[in-house]
Amino acid sequence: MTDAIVGLDIGTSSIRVAIGEIIDENTIEIMGLAKRPSSGVRNGSIVNIEAAIAAIKETIEAAEQNAGYEVFSCVTAIGGSQIESYNSHGLAAVSNKNQPNREINQADKDRALESATATLIPLDREFLHVIPRDYTVDGTSGIKDPIHMIGVRLETDVHIVTASKTAIQNVFSCVSRAGYELDKVWLKTLAQVQAVAHEDEIDMGSIIVDLGAGTTDVLVLVDGAPVCSLSIPVGGNLVTNDISIVLGIPISAAEKIKIESGCCYLPSLETIREVVIPGVGGRPPEMSSQDELCQIIQPRMEEIFSLVRSEIVHKTDLQRLSGNIILTGGGAQMQGVVELAQNVFGTTAVRLGIPESLGGIEEEYRRPEFATVIGLIQSQKKQVKTLEKGFRKSSSSSGNKTNFIKNLLKKLF
Ligand SMILES: Nc1ncnc2c1ncn2[C@@H]1O[C@H](COP(=O)(O)OP(=O)(O)OP(=O)(O)O)[C@@H](O)[C@H]1O
Ligand SMILES: [Mg+2]
Repeated sequence: MTDAIVGLDIGTSSIRVAIGEIIDENTIEIMGLAKRPSSGVRNGSIVNIEAAIAAIKETIEAAEQNAGYEVFSCVTAIGGSQIESYNSHGLAAVSNKNQPNREINQADKDRALESATATLIPLDREFLHVIPRDYTVDGTSGIKDPIHMIGVRLETDVHIVTASKTAIQNVFSCVSRAGYELDKVWLKTLAQVQAVAHEDEIDMGSIIVDLGAGTTDVLVLVDGAPVCSLSIPVGGNLVTNDISIVLGIPISAAEKIKIESGCCYLPSLETIREVVIPGVGGRPPEMSSQDELCQIIQPRMEEIFSLVRSEIVHKTDLQRLSGNIILTGGGAQMQGVVELAQNVFGTTAVRLGIPESLGGIEEEYRRPEFATVIGLIQSQKKQVKTLEKGFRKSSSSSGNKTNFIKNLLKKLF
């Protein structure tokens, strides 16, 4: 069997695994996929290690069977409240009296990035990504790669994503106790960018919105790079809860009705089907209709999008966003979601984030709910191509500053 990259998405409601076979330097084909109910995960965070291990094991084994491939290692992603992000600025001197007119090299870039991370972060957090947004050479900004340019002073603007140390440790512990090596942990939405966003959208300024079960994660991209990552602790589970309470039915029945008949924007309902509400405790079933169901779902989905909008308005410069709002995650599969988002954000530039075609079992993975696993495979593939070696778990807790910076730079986007 040839080389493969395995993506693992540990979600609040589902765990997903995709296996991508590396065909050649530029081609990867998805040849195995599995989705199983999650366990031990609340609002995107692992809260019960034993339950999570069992669910991870079961899903990876199902993907192994589906692909006919034995999994040894994988890459995964985290999001939710475990993530924080901020923008920083780094600086490195390039030329000096002894070496005037020196060309900028990789070591100068690394020093500039290192200086951007010289801010203190709390002891309970660690760097997940340090993403250079752009470089400035002697006052000229907007440079994507300064290598071989001649200059005295190199500056860089970076986007830094940190994660809770215990969250990362829990993920490593679960995957290794399930019997697999974990090669890297990505930010969920950053992985999704690779699967669903087009280059021109990233350059023009776009927003990825991952509508999960427990959280709604957002990544804002401006001028080709991330500028803001945030998470709102509400998701599709709240919608299911609302249905359960209003209709007086169990959560499992509410979830089934939502998936089969749910719509979150009344004008998107072209024909209105009847919906059977199961009876509870011997009560006979009742009849309802999709428009009545929509009246329960729409206010909650509207609230989620409004929260996202107000966070983005608060944290970013809207003038710089002329690309698209891209909706991913299971919640993006609900009827009317694009139209509702268009309405709330006041723009027609909203679309579904369906993973691009990579070959293999396309009809299975080309759905918004698989954006993370497919994006993980693509992100890892891109990183393997761009780094000489090593993207394995770092021992940044060792306290060795030199190793720490080396490990940090290995993790660059
Ligand atoms: N066809 C569908 N119509 C409506 N809602 C759907 C559909 N498919 C999935 N969902 C909803 O999407 C949510 C699950 O999305 P997803 O699987 O992306 O979440 P997750 O990754 O498990 O959770 P999180 O990312 O929050 O940790 C659930 O609330 C589910 O009801
Ligand atoms: Mg998810």
